[in-house]
Amino acid sequence: MSTPTTPELYDAAAPTWVRTEPILLSDYTARPFVFETAGSLEGQRVLDLGCGEGYVCRRIAPLGTDRLVGVDNSSGMIELARSAEQASPLGIEYVLGSATDLQLDESFDLVLAVFLFNYLTCKEMDAVLEVVRRQLAPGGRFVFTVPHPSFPFLNRPAEPPFFFDPKGLDYFSAQDQQLEGRIWRRDGQSIPVRCVHKPMDAYFEALERAGFENMPRVTELSVTEEHLELDFEFFAPLRGLPLHVAFEVGSERD
Ligand SMILES: C[S@@+](CC[C@H](N)C(=O)[O-])C[C@H]1O[C@@H](n2cnc3c(N)ncnc32)[C@H](O)[C@@H]1O
Repeated sequence: MSTPTTPELYDAAAPTWVRTEPILLSDYTARPFVFETAGSLEGQRVLDLGCGEGYVCRRIAPLGTDRLVGVDNSSGMIELARSAEQASPLGIEYVLGSATDLQLDESFDLVLAVFLFNYLTCKEMDAVLEVVRRQLAPGGRFVFTVPHPSFPFLNRPAEPPFFFDPKGLDYFSAQDQQLEGRIWRRDGQSIPVRCVHKPMDAYFEALERAGFENMPRVTELSVTEEHLELDFEFFAPLRGLPLHVAFEVGSERD
């Protein structure tokens, strides 16, 4: 059987992504950091690239956004996001399309890409960064999270909370290679995911190529004591390991 494309992968897995509260590892270890970094969004225009079924948008909307647009290239994910919006309207608009060639006739104060780049090659990430540069208002911010680059090489067994098959490659030789994996929800259900590997320097080089002149704020995220208190069995295998990286970079003012 051939490897599904990313939209096919997400169309098929879409129902397992739907959540109204944290359930995935990164719902605890990464997304809360994104919400905190976003801060008050009173009157702000926000674009969420690779929005999936809308979990991040739904959490961001109550922070006061004036305009909130989510974009994803999986029709299954966008349909679910739109259904949630229809059921409980928060004023979120969902667009079906690729973040690599998005053209919106408006600017945003904050652009998010929460675990999008791990589905893209370095070249595709460059294309998204061009889009981000184009859509970001002067003085706007771009916040993105990715799996920590060492994530697929932690030699973890194929068991919860996550696993990636490094295909016998190493940290450097795996650049731009698509590695397949699986993440587990806290209720035991597993979801297929993938990681087009990029070593750490690839992100800095891409931001520089895209013309982001300010240094990004970079935060490496992991399991905390709070997580261990909540569910020791689930989080303990990952204690002390680098799991995700959050980048925040600002566009220059005119
Ligand atoms: C790991 S999921 C994260 C979804 C959401 N950001 C969240 O945090 O719940 C990655 C999402 O990126 C989307 N995606 C992958 N490649 C994309 C592309 N080129 N353009 C838009 N979305 C894309 C997938 O369809 C999927 O919904």
